[in-house]
Amino acid sequence: MNPEDVKTFFRKHWTVRNYQPFQLPEEHLDAILYAAQRAPTDATAQMYTFIRLTDPVLKQQMGELTRNAHMGTASESFVICADIHRLNSLLEFRGYTPGDYPAVAVHFAVGDAVMAAQNMLIAAEMLGYMGCWIGGVMNALPQIQQLLKLPRGVFPFAALTIGVPAEEHKLRPRLDRALVIHENSYQDPTPEALDQAYQEMAAITSRGDWGLSLSRYFAKGGSMEIREGHLRDLLAQQGFDHVQPRNNLDADAVFQQAVQAGFPELVVRQKAAGLEAWLDQGHLAYRGDGTSLTEALKNALMEALKEHAE
Ligand SMILES: Cc1cc2nc3c(=O)[nH]c(=O)nc-3n(C[C@H](O)[C@H](O)[C@H](O)COP(=O)(O)O)c2cc1C
Repeated sequence: MNPEDVKTFFRKHWTVRNYQPFQLPEEHLDAILYAAQRAPTDATAQMYTFIRLTDPVLKQQMGELTRNAHMGTASESFVICADIHRLNSLLEFRGYTPGDYPAVAVHFAVGDAVMAAQNMLIAAEMLGYMGCWIGGVMNALPQIQQLLKLPRGVFPFAALTIGVPAEEHKLRPRLDRALVIHENSYQDPTPEALDQAYQEMAAITSRGDWGLSLSRYFAKGGSMEIREGHLRDLLAQQGFDHVQPRNNLDADAVFQQAVQAGFPELVVRQKAAGLEAWLDQGHLAYRGDGTSLTEALKNALMEALKEHAE
């Protein structure tokens, strides 16, 4: 490969959310999984586990829980987990007591998991497939932990689908290189560079407003604040107990967030099991389910704020 070949290969990458029905040949799957395991790994520990979903009902269920229906239709769907459970078992097997380093564990286990899964995606792309990372696992962390029987020391970072695209190639924009690759020391972006960044990234959404899309995820009242609560709860439950659950987000606080985000009306219904909360914006209503009002409301707000980059 020469440098131009490398660029041509990576220019062909695009995230795919619609797949043709297709079963990967065994040797293709084998090569993809081989690539995953050849990824570098911190201290040789391989702090990750991928759950390969082969049960069609489970795949579809995961599609619903993550609100990424292609988990049900892709040739291959994996849940990418950070994992120190196996590492601790290995240590205990030889009579060592596992150390107490929960923040470092999250740091390196996520790193290991991402490197292995991205290797897998690149290998799949080398074979002519495409895929999609799915952060949508954060929409249903407790349900996924139970469904996949994830033990303490394990949490899902994301999911990954792979298959044959049933959609046209889209080359989505990136920031100017100078904004993300700095020489020798960190460079704060100038106002001109920030303005330019918005112009460069405008094409990522159909409305041409990257700021609006970013704000729905990352600004005050955006979906990441809801995810923050879910993730803290799960990390604490799975043994990463440096992370405090965010108990301060009660139903009142979530509803205040919903009002600020432009959803002033709330309807709650009792169901056979749990509650259903509807957030209303006049012409649009969004539903969330949960066992408590806070949980149902959080899920409704997440649904209301959801907007994938197109
Ligand atoms: C960690 C991570 C989580 C993501 N989560 C989702 C997701 O839940 N649903 C989705 O449709 N795309 C998801 N994506 C795909 C991004 O939206 C996509 O990579 C981005 O828009 C750039 O597009 P491109 O990959 O086609 O260049 C995710 C990507 C990453 C790396």
